[in-house]
Amino acid sequence: MSFDKVAFIRGMPKAELHLHIEGTLEPEMMMDLAKRNQVQLPYENVDEVRKAYQFGSLQDFLDLYYAGMSVLKTERDFFDLTYAYLTRMHQENTRHVEIFFDPQGHTERGIAFDTVLDGISAALEKAQKEFGITSRVIMCFLRHLSEDSAFETLNHACRCKSRIFGIGLDSSEKGNPPSKFSRVYRAAREEGFAPVAHAGEEGPSSYVCEALDDLKVLRIDHGNRALEDPALVKRIAQEKIPLTVCPLSNKRLQVCPDLTQHPLRKMLDAELIVTINSDDPSYFGGYLTDNFLAIADALALDRKALETLGRNAFVASFLSDRDKQKALDEFNAFTSRF
Ligand code: ADE
Ligand code: ZN
Repeated sequence: MSFDKVAFIRGMPKAELHLHIEGTLEPEMMMDLAKRNQVQLPYENVDEVRKAYQFGSLQDFLDLYYAGMSVLKTERDFFDLTYAYLTRMHQENTRHVEIFFDPQGHTERGIAFDTVLDGISAALEKAQKEFGITSRVIMCFLRHLSEDSAFETLNHACRCKSRIFGIGLDSSEKGNPPSKFSRVYRAAREEGFAPVAHAGEEGPSSYVCEALDDLKVLRIDHGNRALEDPALVKRIAQEKIPLTVCPLSNKRLQVCPDLTQHPLRKMLDAELIVTINSDDPSYFGGYLTDNFLAIADALALDRKALETLGRNAFVASFLSDRDKQKALDEFNAFTSRF
């Protein structure tokens, strides 16, 4: 019997490691929250919101992404946002999620850090109880803001160590190299936070080198442009640094407009630990399963490649060794049954 790729992808136990919770804000919820919180939006209805999602670059998207955040005000809003994502992930057989949040996107407009984290954490706890989904929270620094602002944000995280596992770096990459945050990352590592960073999405491969050398990251988010430097690819393979790749994001942000040209194939051939993720699913037209389906189709991925990608997500996760093994056992049981 021929291999049913779609059934395999849908049924596979999954993990997502690159997901901005603010990027799961669906237009319907944006309109509802705008009403609930009396926020004026430049859109009359859901169709107008969707129509605005045409991006020529990362910055085009970020402008809308930060504008969209303005409807998120109360702990309940952050709870509803996170719980909606987790419900969706449960329906997609996702077993583990590592969620980014952008506190400065909220504190800069007067929302308290604790309001944001309390809402997200409550939803994660509920989803663990109800669905058995495990999670880690990764707090991102906005790289277009100053080092001082990042340090201030790190101070908040230090009060909440039991709920924040790692730190990340996102927002406008060009002109904001990882080295701008070397001192913040050193302090964060000393406080015990696991470091990751977006690098090589729009920025050059040298930013990926900086993320490794200056920030000492354990994973690279995106990393597409690392492939422009063969020595760097070799290093990433040797040091077993995972890459969290986001196909539909790359397509919609014009990082890779044609997915048949996506560097994932080269990453797999170079034996990099690459994973599939959705980044900002509401803005980019698809959640985790959609990303798997889109890239599997564009690159004609076979069963072996899909198994590798699925397994890598657990291997590259921040689960404890014991929980990682449990998740991998479950994954292997699925593949031998299928
Ligand atoms: N913030 C949310 N999504 C992002 C992305 N893809 N790159 C950089 N910053 C982001
Ligand atoms: Zn991202």
